[in-house]
Amino acid sequence: MAKVVILTGAGISAESGIRTFRASDGLWEEHRIMDVATPEGFARDPALVHRFYNARRAAARAAQPNPAHLALAELEADPGHEVLVVTQNVDDLHERAGSQNVIHMHGSLFGALCHACDHRWPAPEAMQPQDTCPGCGRKATRPDIVWFNEMPYQMDRIIRELEAADLFVSIGTSGNVYPAAGFVQDAAMCGVETLELNLDRSAGSEMFDTSRQGPASVLVPQWVRERLGSR
Ligand code: APR
Repeated sequence: MAKVVILTGAGISAESGIRTFRASDGLWEEHRIMDVATPEGFARDPALVHRFYNARRAAARAAQPNPAHLALAELEADPGHEVLVVTQNVDDLHERAGSQNVIHMHGSLFGALCHACDHRWPAPEAMQPQDTCPGCGRKATRPDIVWFNEMPYQMDRIIRELEAADLFVSIGTSGNVYPAAGFVQDAAMCGVETLELNLDRSAGSEMFDTSRQGPASVLVPQWVRERLGSR
């Protein structure tokens, strides 16, 4: 049984029509990170932040999984592989493709969180500042998204799984945002083989044992076919 930990980023959903962050037409060209992706930005202008994530939630709902998401679900279904997908993405395309073992380390567009009492519930289609928390009744609802200066979810489990893996694969991420950008070094220090599949060379390409460049919808199914053929 090969234990594979897979980190995914915005690049795996790009061919499903979901915009990445750091491309020349990426989300961070149009929006200032400090305005829409920090607790301070939310405190300053919650209506703006809700509008931003409401639009992204609508875009995610309209998108469909692509062959890269589907191939990862196929690998997970194979009895010879134990697969954990750790995604930085806040869409639900891995789940809709059939992946079951998924950690959303940066949260999810489909969750709501009360910043007064930490209660969590499914996000409505559109969230607004006047929405009340079903737990405590306060007007303190926010998207369940991990913003800059906040701690990603399930880090202890992720590091544990990474250190026990046979193979770490990073797909469609620019390697700019920590702690995810450091997973390749964590894995390498434990002797775990590392592979990168990305459209172009990323900030961390040098650190991988192997780095392949190309679109995820081609590279990921190709790599999964190699794995399944190699049993
Ligand atoms: N196939 C494979 N890779 C692709 C494709 C594609 N079709 N299209 C783009 N890419 C690659 C780009 O070359 C880039 O290296 O995906 C990467 C996307 O990088 P970013 O936009 O920086 O996205 P990501 O790495 O997921 O960002 C990390 O930053 O703003 C935060 O919280 C946000 O989770 C996000 C985090």
